[in-house]
Amino acid sequence: MTNDLVLTSLRARPILDSRGFPTVEVAATTDDGALLRAASPAGASTGAHEAVELRDGGPAFSGKGVEGAVRSVESPLAELLVGPVWSELEDADAAMAELDSTRGYANLGANAVVAVSMVLARGFAHAAGSELWEWFAARTGSTPLLPVPHFNVLNGGAHAANDLDLQEFMIAPVGARDEAEAVAMGAEAHHALGALVRERYGTAGLGDEGGFAPALSEPREALDLLMEAIGRAGLVPGREEMAIAVDPAANGFHRGGGIYRVAGRDLDREELVDVYRQLLRDYPIRSLEDGFAEDDLEGWRVQSRELGGRVQLVGDDLYVTDPVRIRDGSARGLSDAVLIKPNQIGTVSQTLAAIRTAREASMACMISHRSGETWDDFIADLAVGTGVDQIKAGAPARGERVAKYNRLAGIALAHPELPYGLS
Ligand code: PGA
Ligand code: ZN
Repeated sequence: MTNDLVLTSLRARPILDSRGFPTVEVAATTDDGALLRAASPAGASTGAHEAVELRDGGPAFSGKGVEGAVRSVESPLAELLVGPVWSELEDADAAMAELDSTRGYANLGANAVVAVSMVLARGFAHAAGSELWEWFAARTGSTPLLPVPHFNVLNGGAHAANDLDLQEFMIAPVGARDEAEAVAMGAEAHHALGALVRERYGTAGLGDEGGFAPALSEPREALDLLMEAIGRAGLVPGREEMAIAVDPAANGFHRGGGIYRVAGRDLDREELVDVYRQLLRDYPIRSLEDGFAEDDLEGWRVQSRELGGRVQLVGDDLYVTDPVRIRDGSARGLSDAVLIKPNQIGTVSQTLAAIRTAREASMACMISHRSGETWDDFIADLAVGTGVDQIKAGAPARGERVAKYNRLAGIALAHPELPYGLS
């Protein structure tokens, strides 16, 4: 596909993300007069092997300023990218990697690079006269699909002030007829959960991803709330209906040496797997992400041996969207699914390579937002265009979360021919 891209300007500025911390927004103009924007998301429970954000340090914003990353865009990256004719996103992304010269973009800042790469992808889609998702489909040879949203409606771990060690409790309308119904089911169950939580705990509390964060600590208490809320919304809990997904984000409660502290108890690997096994038996959980810590490969092996085939096992911090780590994890049989976050690896080309690698290894993918988000709905188009059948973007509430779900619903409305659901 040769639809060349020529940028006439590339600017950046700090904007506030959904947690009120600075992040990088870039704006580019093209030689035919288009103005395109993109904004970098940011994580809280980040993996040790992620691409490196450039943060200013110092007293302002607890050291999280992005003036340095903005300068990376305004001078070296603009000098590199504005002017030449670019025919492939890979070439522009590779030029950024070469300019940076470190593995994780530590010089320029991955928060600068990912936003620029996203705006470049929008530029190439514009040059091709396509919607972004259509460009992804053509670019990757994928059959486009409307993904099953995984709504994170109960928050714990690093995303909430409560004592719930497991980070994310999601609901996934697997049985919805279409994307609009899926989003409506998620929103109805979320409202029912809000009412239930207020009744039972007096106050709902909110986590970073827009889910409720009541004062609870036991995983079972969280799952019972989800089951009751789904029922109250007139929906049927079940792996083929309204399913549940859990992201324990186990880095957050790994004490080291394969010992995990959950609800005040220290558990070894077998005991933690036993906890998960019992939860899978009692609740319709279809997906379990980062059940073990990123550096506890023995834990991942035990989990895969004991639970593999019964639930989707997703690697997030384990793989950090890195094709090399994904290939290695697949060879070791650590999991059968991969979480895909563009800012973990740094560029859109590398993100597409991660999806390709996962597919070659017959692993499923789930496209993901970060806990710190913006108006940018890029990941909705990424999921649809690559035909990845699962996405998580937080609760079906709060502007930065619904931006993604509303974009999915918008694509679905304009393209009723696109199928919805797990492939
Ligand atoms: P993060 O969390 O964006 O704070 O890293 C998301 C996740 O663990 O999936
Ligand atoms: Zn995760």
